[in-house]
Amino acid sequence: MDYSIGTGEFKDWIVAETAFSAEKLGKSEAVMMLGNGYMGLRSATEESYGQETRNLFINGTFNKSQENEVTELPNAADITRLDIRIDGERFSLEFGKISDYIKQLNLKTAQLTRSFIWESPKGKKLRFHFNRFVSLDNLHLIAMKMEVESLSHPVAISFDSGINGRMTNSGSQHFLEGERRILDDRLVQLTQKTNESGVEMVFNAVHNIRLNGENVMPAADKDMARRKVWMTYDFQLEPKEKLEVEKLATVHTSRDSGDGQRSKNSAQLLQKSLDELQHHAEKGYDALFQKHCQAWQEKVWGNYDFEVESDHPFDQLALRFSLYHLTAMQPPPAHEYLGIGAKAMSGEGYKGHTFWDLEIFILPFFIYSNPAAAKSLLTYRYHGLAGARRKAVENGYAGAMFPWEMAWPEDGETTPLWGDIDIVTGEQSKIWSGIIEQHISADIAFAVYQYEKVTGDSGFMERYGYEMVFETAKFWSSRLEWNEDREVYEIRNVLGPDEYKEHVDNNAFTNYMAYFNLKLAERYAEQLSSENPKLFQKFGVGDARLDWKEKAESLYLPNPRPIDSVIPQDDTYLQLPEIDLSTYKKQTKVRTIYRDYNAEQINKIQVTKQADTVLLFYLLEQTFLCGDARLSNTAKRENYRYYEPRTLHDSSLSLAVHAVVANDLGQTDMAYSLFRQACEIDLGPQMHTSDEGIHAAAIGGIWTAAVFGFGGVRLSDELLRINPRLPKQWRRMKFTLYWKGVALTIEITHQSLKATPHSGEVVFETGGKIYKADKLIEVPLTSEAQIHSGQPLQ
Ligand code: BGC
Repeated sequence: MDYSIGTGEFKDWIVAETAFSAEKLGKSEAVMMLGNGYMGLRSATEESYGQETRNLFINGTFNKSQENEVTELPNAADITRLDIRIDGERFSLEFGKISDYIKQLNLKTAQLTRSFIWESPKGKKLRFHFNRFVSLDNLHLIAMKMEVESLSHPVAISFDSGINGRMTNSGSQHFLEGERRILDDRLVQLTQKTNESGVEMVFNAVHNIRLNGENVMPAADKDMARRKVWMTYDFQLEPKEKLEVEKLATVHTSRDSGDGQRSKNSAQLLQKSLDELQHHAEKGYDALFQKHCQAWQEKVWGNYDFEVESDHPFDQLALRFSLYHLTAMQPPPAHEYLGIGAKAMSGEGYKGHTFWDLEIFILPFFIYSNPAAAKSLLTYRYHGLAGARRKAVENGYAGAMFPWEMAWPEDGETTPLWGDIDIVTGEQSKIWSGIIEQHISADIAFAVYQYEKVTGDSGFMERYGYEMVFETAKFWSSRLEWNEDREVYEIRNVLGPDEYKEHVDNNAFTNYMAYFNLKLAERYAEQLSSENPKLFQKFGVGDARLDWKEKAESLYLPNPRPIDSVIPQDDTYLQLPEIDLSTYKKQTKVRTIYRDYNAEQINKIQVTKQADTVLLFYLLEQTFLCGDARLSNTAKRENYRYYEPRTLHDSSLSLAVHAVVANDLGQTDMAYSLFRQACEIDLGPQMHTSDEGIHAAAIGGIWTAAVFGFGGVRLSDELLRINPRLPKQWRRMKFTLYWKGVALTIEITHQSLKATPHSGEVVFETGGKIYKADKLIEVPLTSEAQIHSGQPLQ
C-alpha cells in the first residue's frame, strides 16, 4: 500500500495500491470500501477472481439463513461485477502484462479509482480506467464508470453487466429468489427477500454508454438465469477509440423507513426505485459525483476535518482515513434501529453485529463531533431494551442484561455459541462471551452518561437515557452475589475485557463498572425524584434506589495493592505463573501465542489480550469517580506499568487506549508508537489482517488517540478538560468538537492552545485553570500545564 501519492489538493488524501496481486485482494477490498451508513460496498474489482470477497451489505437487514445459525447481515446482490472479454477471451489481470497499475481511494471525494494498461496474451494493448462511488448525497445510489481505450490494434470488446443475486455469506444463502426484469431494453431489475426476517430488497441498474464521447444506445443481448439478470454489449474499438460505460444502480429495502417498521407495499417500492433510477440516468455519473462530493464536503470535511502537521504525513492521512470510515459506517440520520458492527459493513467478520466496540471506542467520536448521530446510536441500544430484558429473565436476573452481540434490536442476544477448533484438543470451542461477558451493560450506561455530560441533552435522558441506566442498575443489583465470609457482594464467573481469562471472579473492570452503573442510577434517581417527580414515578424505581445504594457500597472493589498500587485484574490473575512473553510482544501478527498454547493454558498464565484494568482508569476518570483514591494517578501509572508488558494487544481495541494512557503519563514517545501501531491495524503492511473487514473500533481509536491522547481532551464529570501534550513528531493539530451544543475549534502547538467557540460560550480547564471562552482565547502551554495526569513514568 502507498499513502504518499496524493499531490496538490489531494496531498495526504489518497490510499493506494500500486501493484496487483490476485492473492492479496482482501486488503484493498476492505480498507477502500465505499459506504454511506445505509450500505457498505466492499471494493472488489469489476472482473472476478477466485480469492475475492464481493460484499454489499445493507444496514439492518439481518437474517438467519438457517435455524441453527445466528442472524447476520446478508450479502446482498452484486452490481459491480463486469465480465469483460477482449477478442473473445476473458479479461483478467492474472494473464497478459500489466503496467501503470494503480487502485486508489480518494478519501476526500470518497471515490474509488483503478487504472492500468493491459497487454493481452495476444499482444493487444488497452488502457482501462474504472471509477466508483456510493453516494452520500443519495443513500440508495451506487455509481460506476468504466473507460476502455484501445492503444495498439483493433479489438473486439464485449462485457456482461447486470445484477447477480447468487451471493452468499461464505456459503450461507439468505435469500428467496425474487423477480428479474429488463425494462425498456435497458433497465435491469432484481428483487430478493431474506428467508427468515422477510426483508424485501429491490436492485435496479441502467447503463449510459458513450463511444468516442458520443452517446450510443447499442442493441444488447438480454439474459436471465436463476437469481441473475444481465445484458451483454459488444463493441469494436479501433486504435485510440474509447468506450465509456456508466452503470448506475439503486438499492432499496422494505426496512428503509428508519422507524423500525417494515414497509408492506412492495409495488410502491419497485416503482419508487425505478423512478429514482431514471432520474439518476438522466443526470449521469459526473453530475451525480459532483453532488456526492458536495455532500462529503458539507457533512464531513467542512464540518470536522482534522489537521495534523507531523514529520510523518501518514499521520494526517490516518486521521482522514478514520473520519472517512466513521462516516461510511454512520447510520443515516434518524435511522435509530441501526448500530455499527465490529467490521462496520466492510466484510463478513463478526456478522455485522454490534459489540461494546460501539460505546467505548466509536461513540466518543460521534458524541464530540456529531451528537445527533451519537443520539441515534444510543437510541438503537434503547430499542434493544426488550431483548436485554429477555436475556436477563432467561439468565435468572432482573432489569436489562444487554446482549454481548446485538443485531436487529428485537433479536436480543446474537452471539454464536460455538467458535474455532481448539488446536490442542481438536474440539470446537465454546464462545462464552454471550453468556458471561457482562460488562457491556455498564459500558452502555457509561456511554449514556458521557453523552449526557458532553451534550446536555435532557430530552434524550427523559425519553431514553434514564430508563437505560435504571434498567441496567436493576440487572447488576440482581446479579451480585453475597459472600457471607467476606461480607461483600461479588461478581463471580465472568469474562472481563481480557478475553484470555475466562470464568474469573471479581474482574476489576466489571466490578468497578457495575459499581459506577449502580451509583449513576442512584444519582439520577435522586436528581429526578426532586426535579421531575412525575417522570420519576413513570420509571417505577421505588425502593430500588436504596437497594442500589446499599449494594454499591457493599460491592467488592479490589484495592490497589499496598506494595505496588496494582489492582488485581481478578481474584487469581496476580497469582498465576508468568512466562517470557517477549516473542509475542514482538509479533507482527496478532494471536501468535496460540501457536504455542491453547485457550485453557492461556487462561492460566499472566497474559492479557487487551486493555482491561488500564481501560478502567481511562473510563472512570471521566466520571464522578474521578476523585476516588483507588483510581489515583499513582495507581493509574503503576497499573499501566504492570499490565502493559503483559498485554499482547491481540484485540484491535487495545492499542489506542494504551496510547491515551501512555500520553497521560508523560510517555509521549511510547504513546506515539502505540498510535502508529493503532493506525497500522488496517493501514499497515500486513496484507491479510483486514480480509474479514476493517476494524471499526480501531478506526474510532485513531481519533481517540489523537484527541483524547495528544489533544488531552477529557470529560471530567461536569468539566471539559483540555491538557494537550503533542508528540515531538507533531507541530500542530486542529480539530473541532461540540461541547453542550457549541462547536469549539481547538488548535494546539507545543507552545499554545487556541480555542475558538463558533457561537456562545465554552468553559474548560487547562493546566489546572478554568477558562471561559466566548471568542478565540489562546493559552500558553507550559511544560507543567502539559503534564496533566501525575508525574511522567520515568
Ligand atoms: C475482542 C472484543 C471485541 C470483539 C469485536 C474481540 O476480539 O476481544 O473486545 O468486542 O473482538 O471487535
